[in-house]
Amino acid sequence: MENIIKDIDIISTAGQENCDFKTTADENTGQIKKLYIESYGCQMNFSDSEIVASIMKKNGFDTTSDFNNADVIFLNTCSIRDKAEQTVRKRLSQFNQVKAGNPELTIGVLGCMAERLKDKLLEEEKLVDLVVGPDAYRDLPNLVAQADEGMKGVNTFLSREETYADISPVRLNSNGVSAFISIMRGCDNMCSFCVVPFTRGRERSRDPHSIVKEARDLFQKGYREVTLLGQNVDSYKWSPEENNKARLNKKGEAVTEVIHFADLLAMVAEIDPRLRVRFSTSHPKDITDEVLYTMKAHDNICKYIHLPVQSGNSRILSLMNRTYDREWYLERVQKIREILGEECGISSDMIAGFCSETEAEHQDTLSIMDLVQYDFSYMFYYSERPGTLAAKKYADDIPLSVKKRRLQEIIARQNELSLLRNRMDIEQVQEILIEGQSKRSADQLKGRNSANKVVIVPAGKLAAGDYARVKITDCSSATLFGELVN
Ligand code: SAH
Ligand code: SF4
Ligand code: F3S
Repeated sequence: MENIIKDIDIISTAGQENCDFKTTADENTGQIKKLYIESYGCQMNFSDSEIVASIMKKNGFDTTSDFNNADVIFLNTCSIRDKAEQTVRKRLSQFNQVKAGNPELTIGVLGCMAERLKDKLLEEEKLVDLVVGPDAYRDLPNLVAQADEGMKGVNTFLSREETYADISPVRLNSNGVSAFISIMRGCDNMCSFCVVPFTRGRERSRDPHSIVKEARDLFQKGYREVTLLGQNVDSYKWSPEENNKARLNKKGEAVTEVIHFADLLAMVAEIDPRLRVRFSTSHPKDITDEVLYTMKAHDNICKYIHLPVQSGNSRILSLMNRTYDREWYLERVQKIREILGEECGISSDMIAGFCSETEAEHQDTLSIMDLVQYDFSYMFYYSERPGTLAAKKYADDIPLSVKKRRLQEIIARQNELSLLRNRMDIEQVQEILIEGQSKRSADQLKGRNSANKVVIVPAGKLAAGDYARVKITDCSSATLFGELVN
């Protein structure tokens, strides 16, 4: 099992690969050509597809949900584990047939796999016309035009500046209530197992004013929740000087202070108390007390932190180059509990069977889960990625059967913990934001509480985007059930 899908919905976070893919919707704004995008991987990739759609729209393309109708097909791909790449390879072979029936069709591979494999992908996948990495999307219209002339193209240039700050994304997969906003790109952390620093390049932060503007526009359009995305949001840092943008205050004086993540969070939260603010992903080495106090000070900053531990054992954490140990992690969790209380949701990512992991070290992962009591986790077994530090330095020496067994134990433990944590919510009155109809029944609505748990309620007179006060009456390990209260 690659990923844990919540009962009702897939919750994905920055850098968190979904086992699902998302496609573009039908849009008819009178453009001549049709673009179909299929997006794999994490929320950042989905967010990038919205930027791609926006760039292409300005160049004569409406989106379509039917690849048979498309003039251009883009696959926005993920490299995080081998399985993610295999899925895309299979999909490309299916598109072979589509292209056989329509030789005019342009097929582009975008995203992390494009960046990792570069022109090798053109050699290996004969039907592919374009290979374009995450920082080169402004070049897409040009590359598509060249492909129309029969020229294949590759642009995998990684930038130190590109943040697409000026591009307003076309909201492709939105429920009209919650939206994702990328606040930074890339990652400088070099965890030894991880391919992201190679596929996404150096870390850079986006201009905070463009972020606030995007959030405000969304609020004015009726959105009620934004999730600020980055691989490591706690290292968000923007200084006007570095970016050659002297800001002026009301008196016309240059403002030079550096903006950190806690400042940005407050800026977005202060747009309107009815706009919920979430963020992901927090890195245990960087999450600051200021961020926790900022969360506490604003009711509309959701009390939920995705704090991936990866392993509960300090030796393994050191081999993973995570730069914290078990004690450091537990201290951060204690601080979260101290400042934000028991009700703050905490989730994690876990890797089973990393290089040289012993049974006792695996037990440390299970025991840290017990200590933290995660609300839920995304759990994986280790998949060696070419070019990473771990691939170069350590043998991938845990047999697949052992990796899978350890993963099963982690999943089983998480299911118990999720149920335990959900039961604690029973009898509580919580505020939820309604996202839409429940997939289970037309008489039920689906919402989310502050801690990011899905809550199912009877439909009543509520609509998507409404806040409701709900008493929790029942739960499963994945979902809460409630009734409306006044
Ligand atoms: N930036 C985030 C995570 C990004 S990748 C962070 O630092 O927490 C999302 C998750 O995929 C990781 O947290 C990790 O658990 C998992 N992952 C990454 N590389 C992997 C690999 N080579 N094998 C298995 N799981 C991996
Ligand atoms: Fe990968 Fe580590 Fe960066 Fe997360 S922080 S994206 S796991 S290198
Ligand atoms: Fe995301 Fe996958 Fe790339 S998880 S950053 S799309 S490797």
